[in-house]
Amino acid sequence: MDYSRLIAERQWNLPDKGELESRREETYIDDIIQKDHLQRKLLEQLDGIRTVFDGGAGCGRFSILLARRGCRVTHFDISQPMIDKARELAAQAGVLDRMTFVKGALEDLSAFPDRAFDLVISFDAPVSYTYPRQKEVIGELVRIAAKRVMLSVSSRLGTLPYLANPIQKNQFILDEQSEDPFVRWCVENRERMVDRFTFDPRRAEQVLSDGLMGGAEEIAEYERGGAPWCITYTFLPDELTSILAGYGVKDIELSGPGAYGRTVPREVLVRIMRDPQQREAFLDFCYRFDSNPYVCGMGKDNLLAVGRLEVPR
Ligand SMILES: C[S@@+](CC[C@H](N)C(=O)[O-])C[C@H]1O[C@@H](n2cnc3c(N)ncnc32)[C@H](O)[C@@H]1O
Repeated sequence: MDYSRLIAERQWNLPDKGELESRREETYIDDIIQKDHLQRKLLEQLDGIRTVFDGGAGCGRFSILLARRGCRVTHFDISQPMIDKARELAAQAGVLDRMTFVKGALEDLSAFPDRAFDLVISFDAPVSYTYPRQKEVIGELVRIAAKRVMLSVSSRLGTLPYLANPIQKNQFILDEQSEDPFVRWCVENRERMVDRFTFDPRRAEQVLSDGLMGGAEEIAEYERGGAPWCITYTFLPDELTSILAGYGVKDIELSGPGAYGRTVPREVLVRIMRDPQQREAFLDFCYRFDSNPYVCGMGKDNLLAVGRLEVPR
């Protein structure tokens, strides 16, 4: 049975998902840095782009931005709450006429012909939730792209520090008084998480070698009727490059959004974010630093690849 897909489907269809996801940048500094990076890279790629497929488009952080820029966008996602929220935000932005919403799983893109879209994007790890079919899914995303492809997936090297840091999210909370349920959980459980933590070198070694976060425990929780976090396949930089190159993608550039920001303590990050001038300068510099291929693996959560397709293929 394809547990990954079932687990992802249940997790992302939790009723409050669309609402919570749409408020990420009000709540978490790492999300501000990541979105800023992805958005800058995206805006650099729009020359000659009229049609876009956004795979795992969520609440429309990028699909709506692209529609505002005049692109025709297919917003594709496995989650109805995400699509509902995206549709609401697209209506507010006045771009509904340029967007098509499709509920579906990335594991089946057979409805879309070869080279159907100028640009194909999939941001913030949807591909990583399609384990064990992640490679095939990348192939399908490339197949439906005519000019360019941009994927951000979970980064293996970027994920491994979490295994020695149970309070990693606390570093990025913008407002500790926020009512966001995960902020409340992180703040209230901080000490308990540290007290009961022991480093498990076998688990770290295992993730380093097979790239898998999650497995038997998530399956058991799912079977009990729960909605565990997705089984997530994390990629190494060379691996992602070679998969894309194997499908004919050229000029692949990698970057690691969040690599610079993760080195800064929370108190300092909050001060920077609260001062508009420092915030802008900091985000500029994060973008430059995180675009350096030597740090790409250490993106906070994601590894981003940008590449082009030969025309004609
Ligand atoms: C972290 S969110 C990112 C959303 C959006 N790309 C962004 O950056 O704002 C991951 C999205 O992938 C979607 N997703 C997860 N597994 C999927 C699958 N197998 N097929 C299609 N969408 C999927 C989820 O519903 C969710 O909207």
